[in-house]
Amino acid sequence: MAKSSKSKVKTDKTPVDLLTQKQAKEEHARLQVEISGHDKRYYRQDRPSVSDAEYDELRKRYNAIEERFPDLRTFESLSLKVGAAPTRGFKKVRHAIPMLSLDNAFAEQDVVEFVARIRKFLKLTDDEPIAFSAEPKIDGLSMSLRYESGDLITGATRGDGAEGEDVTANIKTLKEVPQHLKGKHVPAVLEVRGEVYMTKADFLKLNERQKAADDTIFANPRNSAAGSLRQKDPSVTASRPLGFFAYAWGEISEMPAKTQSGMIEWFERCGFTTNPLTKICHSVEELLAFHRQIEQRRAKLDYDIDGVVYKVDRLDWQERLGFVSRTPRWAIAHKFPAERAITVLRDIEIQVGRTGVLTPVAKLEPVGVGGVIVQNATLHNEDYIKGIGGDGEPLREGRDIRIGDTVIIQRAGDVIPQVVDVELDKRPKDAKPYHFPKKCPCPLHTDVVREVTATGEEGARARCSGEFACPFQKTEHLKLFVSRRAFDIEGFGEKQIDYFFEQGWVKEPADIFTLQKLNKKIKLEDIEGYGETSVRNLFASIDERREISLERFIFSLGIRQVGETTALALARGYGAWDAFHEAALKVAKGDEEAMAEMDALDQIGDTVIAAVAAYFRESHNRGIVERLTRQVTILDAEKPKTDSPIAGKTVVFTGSLEKMTREEAKATAERLGAKAAGSVSKKTDYLVAGPGAGSKLAEAQKHGVQVLTEDEWLRLIGS
Ligand code: IVH
Repeated sequence: MAKSSKSKVKTDKTPVDLLTQKQAKEEHARLQVEISGHDKRYYRQDRPSVSDAEYDELRKRYNAIEERFPDLRTFESLSLKVGAAPTRGFKKVRHAIPMLSLDNAFAEQDVVEFVARIRKFLKLTDDEPIAFSAEPKIDGLSMSLRYESGDLITGATRGDGAEGEDVTANIKTLKEVPQHLKGKHVPAVLEVRGEVYMTKADFLKLNERQKAADDTIFANPRNSAAGSLRQKDPSVTASRPLGFFAYAWGEISEMPAKTQSGMIEWFERCGFTTNPLTKICHSVEELLAFHRQIEQRRAKLDYDIDGVVYKVDRLDWQERLGFVSRTPRWAIAHKFPAERAITVLRDIEIQVGRTGVLTPVAKLEPVGVGGVIVQNATLHNEDYIKGIGGDGEPLREGRDIRIGDTVIIQRAGDVIPQVVDVELDKRPKDAKPYHFPKKCPCPLHTDVVREVTATGEEGARARCSGEFACPFQKTEHLKLFVSRRAFDIEGFGEKQIDYFFEQGWVKEPADIFTLQKLNKKIKLEDIEGYGETSVRNLFASIDERREISLERFIFSLGIRQVGETTALALARGYGAWDAFHEAALKVAKGDEEAMAEMDALDQIGDTVIAAVAAYFRESHNRGIVERLTRQVTILDAEKPKTDSPIAGKTVVFTGSLEKMTREEAKATAERLGAKAAGSVSKKTDYLVAGPGAGSKLAEAQKHGVQVLTEDEWLRLIGS
């Protein structure tokens, strides 16, 4: 990279037309960091560091580079976010009660199982009726509106569920959002949750206006609703027709109803609009009939929906059912079938993931599927391409996929698009069969090995045998580390990782936090395209992330099998980094007590324990973790409820319980801040023993653990 004298705004440079691909790639990455930094200072911190004209120049050059080199346009490209969600940020708002999401059902059988699970959990007999509120699932933008003494105080987007963006000024311009609650008796605090959306007709009209004004064209009504809401100028939002359906709530100081449907009626009386298609159903058959009926009406509805939501109507049952990690047990989203499209397979590329798995990716002739342009789709694995079974359906026995073929792709919700079939009658004569590589495309060119499954057979997945020496695996881990779901370091995206890694400046996560020190030597600000402001901004965003929640930290380590949900379960289970770290090191050494304790955590089983053990058995990983923990402060996980008499205690259930199922008993204990363990040890505080209690009872007596009957337990928890 050429060095140049410092310039404040880096636009007086080689004309974009003369840039080489390499120069363009580097400058694009640098501009992305710089522009993101300006955006943050301008919007979130209210202290712009360049003039509007200077900013516009940077933006123009960025766009021009992308126009000439469209391959640079990735998912994190700033230009793609303009219409959908302006890159410039808003103040953050912490939700009083997290905004969680819903589990999905695709097949009818999933709905049957959902209802059966509820019956089992609540110990209901088959003839006990359960009423469900069945509602269309609006494809918009979820919103939380906070009212205090009846006045609208804050409007916040969902964000990551814990923290959203403050869009109060904008939300106040929506006609369907009351500024004051109607009715004489309003609760002191009420958070109403629902969906902001734009009708299909308004979306089309808006795009026509945008086109005429040579302005951003939106891909679908949801993007246009998001783009319209996240405007820095509320008068722009006011000019966009946005609707709001209320369907849920967060914090509420007094409950005005005992059922979901009662709450919806009450929302109406308060002045909200609720969805008129909502219906009470009493059986699986009625739920499925509702789904079919709504699916038939879908095309004619004036707003986009992507499924229907079923919710247990009785709120006392909702309360008892509670949540599994981030989704309620009492509700499910029954999605409509995935959308499909036909296109041509231009090429196949191999992607090496952070765990070394080689995934073949289809490079497609761009095609629109459900409002999104798709150019890449997964082909799963070698066998799938060869047409010898594997993932996905339909099973394409003997129907191999060749480059040049016409293929069918499918995209369901947020799932990665996938190639699901091939049209053999359209195969051109020169279609090329694909040979899966024997050597990994990583610079080490190590042998590719097929995974061995738990039963000892050869699995379909191919893996790079380079493990920790493989630069691809290292960069993939670093990319996960800085990503939104992990450390979320603004201005530090995939491109920067590639660049900094190539230069040898960032080889592992801890290096990100010592980059500022290293900068005395490398002097980023002297490198063409950077500049003092952007370097300052970059270090400011890194510094901002020196404090991190335990669940994000665990997730960011990149342990196989430990996604966000599992990381959260581990964080809640151990409460603090030191406790988790100590346990993980013990598990790696095969300590049975530590393994049993981990196993006792909600949602943690053998696969996760094996993955945690494998990770911490590697000295290379232990080093990475140790160096990283010296750079950051890891916050303890959410404290158990302190007003609960069993907060922080460990409880074991044994024997048969009569008033509730074991699953419900454990879930209640956890909701009240206790740990429900599977076996008795000296750390156990209570053993709740029903009739038929066996060895655990003897074990408890040996350790002097307090033994309670089911009734005593219920009295203890005040139930
Ligand atoms: S209830 C605890 N009801 O779907 C979850 N959500 O995947 C409470 N959505 O983030 C959500 N229509 O944005 C609920 N009638 C409806 C909905 C709905 C759309 C969205 C919502 C949520 C997502 C969950």
